[in-house]
Amino acid sequence: MSKDLSQLREDYTGESLRRKDLSRDPIDQFQAWFSQAQDLGVVEPNAMSLATVDEKGQPWQRSVLLKGLDKRGFVFFTNFGSRKSQQIAGNAKVSLLFPWISIHRQVAITGSATKIPATESLKYFVTRPFGSQIGAWSSPQSSIISSRSILETKLDEMKRKFKKGGVPLPSFWGGFRITPETVEFWQGGQNRIHDRFLYSKSDDIGWNLNRLAP
Ligand SMILES: Cc1cc2nc3c(=O)[nH]c(=O)nc-3n(C[C@H](O)[C@H](O)[C@H](O)COP(=O)(O)O)c2cc1C
Repeated sequence: MSKDLSQLREDYTGESLRRKDLSRDPIDQFQAWFSQAQDLGVVEPNAMSLATVDEKGQPWQRSVLLKGLDKRGFVFFTNFGSRKSQQIAGNAKVSLLFPWISIHRQVAITGSATKIPATESLKYFVTRPFGSQIGAWSSPQSSIISSRSILETKLDEMKRKFKKGGVPLPSFWGGFRITPETVEFWQGGQNRIHDRFLYSKSDDIGWNLNRLAP
């Protein structure tokens, strides 16, 4: 018998997080935490939840993989016809969440998504394994389909079509960059005294940094 949900709880024993330990720039801080997540064995540390909003104001979420990061923002790749892409076309405001639960940390980001240039998407596309490249060609992501065999047939067709390699970048596939407006770092502490620091973009001084109550 599994344990009662109300009794499931984890105690956090990590060190406290102090303002002096944080970088002035949230991207530098994210990169530091990301390499710690990798070193500490977080499974798929680049997996993040992406929240978008539909035309009725209804939020939707799904996992995507972070595939690029620099001072401009956070990049993931997807099908431009997908539900998430349609929602971004209607409202570019999105939110990301990195749930690094095993190390008692999370990073939550808000910002705006914009498509990256096709040349930049191509640079990444050519590094993908053949199977992933033809997979991108084969799935009309988020469309209703009547059976799995439709996908398998399409995949076989693409395998034959591109058997010599050199798979081109589909016009309906590529990257979005999320330009951050806020970045919040959360670290679990003892007795539920967790540490939260919120970076907010400010035009004149770069980034404001505030501690939030847990
Ligand atoms: C760990 C993980 C990573 C994923 N990475 C991606 C990704 O990078 N890009 C993507 O389009 N879908 C990715 N998916 C699938 C999405 O979660 C989602 O099912 C798909 O993109 C369709 O979402 P949508 O219909 O809301 O557009 C991933 C799923 C998981 C569980």
